[in-house]
Amino acid sequence: MIMTEKILVTGPFGQIGSELVPELQNRYGKENVVALGHRHIPDDYQGLLETGDVRNREEMEKIIDKHEITQVYHLASILSAIGEKKPQLTWDVNVNGLKIFLDLAVEHEIKLFWASSIAVFGPTSPLDNTPQHTILEPVTMYGVTKVTGELMCQYYHEKYGVDVRSLRYPGLISYKEEPGGGTTDYAVEIFYKAIEDGEYTCFVKEDTLLPMMFMEDAIRGTLMLMDAPKEDITVRTSYNHAALSFNVKELAEEIKKYIPDFTVSYEPDERQDTADSWPDSIDDSKARDDWGWEHKYDLEKMTKVMIENLRKKLKE
Ligand code: SER
Repeated sequence: MIMTEKILVTGPFGQIGSELVPELQNRYGKENVVALGHRHIPDDYQGLLETGDVRNREEMEKIIDKHEITQVYHLASILSAIGEKKPQLTWDVNVNGLKIFLDLAVEHEIKLFWASSIAVFGPTSPLDNTPQHTILEPVTMYGVTKVTGELMCQYYHEKYGVDVRSLRYPGLISYKEEPGGGTTDYAVEIFYKAIEDGEYTCFVKEDTLLPMMFMEDAIRGTLMLMDAPKEDITVRTSYNHAALSFNVKELAEEIKKYIPDFTVSYEPDERQDTADSWPDSIDDSKARDDWGWEHKYDLEKMTKVMIENLRKKLKE
């Protein structure tokens, strides 16, 4: 066990945090990982807990001082669909919240991880195999905040030497905690509905193709990036991070191997526009070359693990 780090995780009970926190606790010990709870704190959480709002610098600094924090995984974020409904909140949490942690990282010499997204891309970015360095003209508030955040990360690295690292996560698929308010949420919802109801009404069209990743890969990638020697990190905005790409029809076909009568109907809403503005697939060769990223889950393997685990979970 590595004992020297004291870690703070914001958004610890969200889709990513709920799987990252136990991993960090295993690695560093429960006494070295602090979860920053906000609204929703699960009853069964075991570990160090502080409560606070990432928009409040004083609160954050107190917690960092109290626990002598050396690393922050800053995951708290408003996602794309909520972002379109609450643009001011999205800016405050995603941009001002990040800036607070970047400033605290300078003052307290903290190593920082920050979550970016494929939402930094927009309709003018190349659609297929989108490169690491390309046009970034997102059309969602969420995307605007993520591009801003990426540029701030790079600026703080260049100007103040902050060791900040980041991933552009694709749509993340997991069975532990559901995503909240994103555009790629259908790729998780579809599994719950297939098992519970045998049918699903999808809010994007069947040919909607987006980059996706199974959560276990995402967590492994996150820790690989944070473990990599400083000199290997050549991207200080945010790394393209990819695994697979599929459309809804392909996903439904894969699920049907387990639930043959499963049916999907399609009622696209405003989230379709957001999905259409994002890439079909992204080129993550920088992550692969710089720090050895490799994904393990393809569509088949991911679907199998999702169905098995959700069947168990939904029975309980
Ligand atoms: N999953 C996120 C969303 O849909 C993308 O980063 O908002």
